[in-house]
Amino acid sequence: MFVQITGTGSYLPERVVTNDELAATLDTSDEWIYSHTGIRSRHIGADDESTSSMAVKAARAALASAGVAPEDLGLIIVATSTPDYQLFPSTACLVQHALGAVNAACFDMQAACTGFIYALETARGFLHHTPRPTLVVGAEMMSRIVDWSDRNTCILFGDAAGAAVLEVSQDETGGIWHSILKADGAGSQLIFREGGARGLPGGMPLIQHTLQMKGRAVFNFAVKVFDDVLCRLLERSGYTFDDLACVVPHQANARIVEAVARRMGVPLEKFYLNMETTGNSSAASIPVALDAAVAAKKIKEGDLIAMVGFGAGLTYGGILMNWHGRTEKSAPAVHPSRDLSAETNANTE
Ligand SMILES: CC(C)(COP(=O)(O)OP(=O)(O)OC[C@H]1O[C@@H](n2cnc3c(N)ncnc32)[C@H](O)[C@@H]1OP(=O)(O)O)[C@@H](O)C(=O)NCCC(=O)NCCS
Repeated sequence: MFVQITGTGSYLPERVVTNDELAATLDTSDEWIYSHTGIRSRHIGADDESTSSMAVKAARAALASAGVAPEDLGLIIVATSTPDYQLFPSTACLVQHALGAVNAACFDMQAACTGFIYALETARGFLHHTPRPTLVVGAEMMSRIVDWSDRNTCILFGDAAGAAVLEVSQDETGGIWHSILKADGAGSQLIFREGGARGLPGGMPLIQHTLQMKGRAVFNFAVKVFDDVLCRLLERSGYTFDDLACVVPHQANARIVEAVARRMGVPLEKFYLNMETTGNSSAASIPVALDAAVAAKKIKEGDLIAMVGFGAGLTYGGILMNWHGRTEKSAPAVHPSRDLSAETNANTE
């Protein structure tokens, strides 16, 4: 049994903020930002928008493209580091209510920019036991947690939501083949946001803090793990980079992806990049790019594709899947006749 993505959707707030606009209040320039990141502009949510309101828009589009009714959903996972509330109710519960998905269990996934990958794999596990359509959303209001006076960080981020509907595949070979989920907590201080319960005296309210990051160290980490995850996913499937139709990376920085392509000696053209106009929207970045790649016909029926994410935690991981029926060259590690629990373990790391 395989799990397939049967619909995608995304939402970007109307307001676009260019590098030139940032340069009006920060000691930076369009030239510096673009040459160091590949980002020219980002979308920023309006005052009356929230992570859940964006998530609902992306979710509606994904449900429509999958042809799934909200009440048929068995589970909603919202991957986010910027939930509407700190920390409950979950943003997934707010999305469930707005959609009328009354039969869905709900929770949020916090794995920072790798959140969508973590949530997809969690949904895949759920579907093996409860084969009901599942909604996975990545949604972020990064503009609410960045320090707009810090040129080292604020220039990178944007707001967005992307969603995917997952269902048990009707095609014996189509769907998610392999996944890798990893974390290295030793790097927890490379990107963090204080304001949680840690170190607060009893009875004190949780307070807001902005995102802090050691950019250069994160850059080096990202290049290393991206290369590693992609190579290992391909090794397991028996395919090579040439067989991939498209890689959808976390849209953190085009220079990270360029460095990976150089290290691997592969063409940059196969990596779908849209950070030029979105910036880094954390857990939303992969599903937004996936939806755009499908719309642009960079991903078509039968295509072998990979998604790779990395972020705070440090977390990282990837998914290799075919967009519809295609057989694996090597002896498949997963076979529909095998025990399902063994199947999940065999393909997840
Ligand atoms: C943040 C990032 C763009 C910085 O680029 P960099 O080439 O590593 O630059 P450095 O941090 O080494 O800083 C070099 C100089 O540029 C300056 N600089 C940083 N941001 C700047 C900006 N927006 N405009 C102009 N100058 C800037 C620094 O202050 C530093 O100046 P100094 O030498 O006088 O101290 C880059 O490290 C990066 O993208 N890292 C990954 C971040 C990321 O993706 N995080 C999310 C992961 S999920």
